[in-house]
This record gives sequence, structure tokens and C-alpha cells, in this order.
Amino acid sequence: MKRMKLSLTHEMNHSYDILIGNGIMDRAALVLAKGNPEGRYVVIADSTVAGLFGDTVRGILKDAGLTVDMIEFAAGETSKTPETVISIARQLIEIRADRDTTLIALGGGVTGDIVGFTASLYMRSVPYIHVPTTLLAQVDSSVGGKTGVDLPEGKNLLGTIYQPRLVVIDLTFLQNLPETQMKDGLAEIVKYGIIDDEELFSSLENDIGKIGARDIDYIQSLVERACKIKKGIVEIDEHDRGMRRMLNFGHTLGHALEAESGYSLSHGNAVALGMIAAARISEKKGHLGASERRRIEALAGALGLPVSIPAAFDAERLYERMQGDKKRKNGILHFVLLKRIGMPFVNGSIDRRTITETIEEMRVKCTNS
Ligand SMILES: NC(=O)c1ccc[n+]([C@@H]2O[C@H](COP(=O)([O-])OP(=O)(O)OC[C@H]3O[C@@H](n4cnc5c(N)ncnc54)[C@H](O)[C@@H]3O)[C@@H](O)[C@H]2O)c1
Repeated sequence: MKRMKLSLTHEMNHSYDILIGNGIMDRAALVLAKGNPEGRYVVIADSTVAGLFGDTVRGILKDAGLTVDMIEFAAGETSKTPETVISIARQLIEIRADRDTTLIALGGGVTGDIVGFTASLYMRSVPYIHVPTTLLAQVDSSVGGKTGVDLPEGKNLLGTIYQPRLVVIDLTFLQNLPETQMKDGLAEIVKYGIIDDEELFSSLENDIGKIGARDIDYIQSLVERACKIKKGIVEIDEHDRGMRRMLNFGHTLGHALEAESGYSLSHGNAVALGMIAAARISEKKGHLGASERRRIEALAGALGLPVSIPAAFDAERLYERMQGDKKRKNGILHFVLLKRIGMPFVNGSIDRRTITETIEEMRVKCTNS
């Protein structure tokens, strides 16, 4: 089992461990039992994950001597709403969860965001633990403490930054993860390669077969690398005021696509398209060479991620959606662009025409060089 420490200096928060390994849930339960033997825990999972792993995880925690309850909500991004948070809070009250109760987010990024948000609000905050079960949640959303829910106006518009007490990343959960969800996680790993680690990007290019074969040791190495990058960035900029904005690479258009599709387009697919658009804009503005942009498109394509925007999307409407992005500062939309793979920067002066033209190109002929 690999242990990383995310160290924060902010007085309201604390540092925490990220445990990574294959089949580590029982050891993690013993860690919890050792730290707080009287502890009370409530596992919160969506309907799919509760059905797949709810009993097992509850059993492991109970075997370690812990008191455990379970709360379920309907699977899917459409559950990431204030209503779900209120419903969970009311169920917590019903089972008499108090300020010493720890919530456990068992599931993907949707569950993590909902549970983290609920934990930051319930009885003016209770501790919570992430047990991510999708690749996306293991490499991204479970680390860094961003929580939140969507509003009809856009994604993640209501949220907090509230750090978990522990993150337990068990690769076993990925064994039967559907291909679509694997790809969503891979999109975020590609993002880390692009923004921080050219070697990671090359490794993905060269070892694509290992991903297809679901080589668990290789996937664990990707998870460890991704968590190390994210942890490093969060340690420098917990509150998303500078460096952390690099993690938003591909997300400005990505979030607009997701919301505009009514969340039928997955987060990873939307981010993949957003990353390609950002690379194209970087090239148009003379920052990025065409060969680097082509490498990004080729890797996305090879991983089975989309490289063209479905014709049903309207460029002007997407632009309007982007105006609602919460990363907008003083009315200016900040795009993360590239000088080369591994070297991002923030640019706040991308004109409307460049953005809509890029979207139009991607609707018709993205694979053109
Ligand atoms: N907080 C952050 O820093 C952060 C970062 C990135 C993304 N996010 C958020 O994460 C969300 C996307 O996360 P996601 O892709 O994990 O979505 P998700 O949580 O909806 O999971 C996707 C689907 O996979 C199912 N599932 C989960 N684990 C499974 C398993 N092991 N086997 C089989 N099925 C499984 C779920 O039930 C769900 O139907 C978005 O809402 C996004 O905004 C948050």
C-alpha cells in the first residue's frame, strides 16, 4: 500500500493521507478503527455503487469493529443537486448522525462532490472520507477538497472547499468499471500529462496497450502519478487562486458542453473535447506548434475519447454557456492554454470569434491537420 501525505498549512484545514493500493479496503478499515475505535460512520453511495459494493464495504467496516449506516441516492449527474444534499441531511438527522459522525463517500465524482458538500454543511460540518470507485474519482475528484452541486444555470455553481480526513484509493473497485467510465478517468490523466508531466503523456502514448488490457499495475502507476501531481498543486494553491487553475485545462468548454448536453455527454468526454479546443486555440494564437496539438488529438483518439463535437451543439450557445463559468474573473473568461505539452499558462484575452470558430472547426473537421 502506497501512502502519500497532502500537507496543508491553512489553519481551518488539516493534512491528510491518500492511501493507494490493490485490495486495501480492509487495511484502511483497521486504520480507521485504530484512530477512532468508537467511531460512527455513514457510507453514502449512489444506487449502482451501493448495489455493487455497499454490503462488502459495510461488512469490512463492521468487521473492524465500527458502527456503520448506509444512505443511497439515485446514480447520475442529475442527482448532483441541492435537493439531494437536503434529502441526505434529513436522512442523517433521522438516523441521529451527530457532529462526531464521519461520512464516507463511496463512489465516483458525483458521490464525492455531494458527500463532501453535505459534510461541509451538516451540523456546521462533520468529517468525511473519500473511497473513490471510478478512475476519474481516483485520479482527480477525491483529492483536493472541492465539493459542490449543480444548479440549472450550470455545473458546480454551489460548493465549498472542504478537505476530507482520508482518501482510500483501492484499485479493486476498477475491475468491472464500464469502458465509458474508464475513458472519463483517462481523459483526466491525459490532462495531467498535458499540464504538468510530458513523460506521463509519452508513457500514455507508448503504453496504450496496457490500458486496453487493464493492466492493474500500470493503472496503479498512473493513479499514483496523477495523485502526486494533483496533491502538489493543491498544496501550493488550495483555494484555486493561481496554480490550481491549471487543473481547469479543457474544463471551460468541457463544462459548457456537459451542461448544454443536459449531462448526457460525460465529464471525461466533454473535457477531452475542451482540451482539444484549448490546444487548437493555443495553436491559432501562435503559442503551440501544430505537431504538439496533433499529438494531443492523436492520443485522445487512440484512447477512444471523442475528437469532434457532435453537430447538435451550437457554437454561439456554447460561448454563452462559457460566460456563466465560475472561473470568469472581472467579466473575463480565462482560458488555460499551452506553450507546449507540460507547459500551460492562463490567458484572459481570447476573443469570442476565436472560440466560436474553433468550436465550428471541431464540429466538422477536427481530425484535419
Ligand atoms: N471535486 C472535484 O475536484 C472534481 C474533479 C473532477 C470531476 N468532478 C466531478 O465528478 C463528476 C464525474 O465523476 P464520475 O465520472 O466518477 O461520475 P459518477 O460518480 O456519476 O460515476 C459514473 C457512473 O459510474 C458508476 N460507478 C461508480 N463506480 C463504479 C464501479 N466501480 N463499477 C461500476 N460502476 C461504477 C456510478 O454509479 C455512475 O453511474 C462530475 O460531476 C464532475 O463535476 C469533481
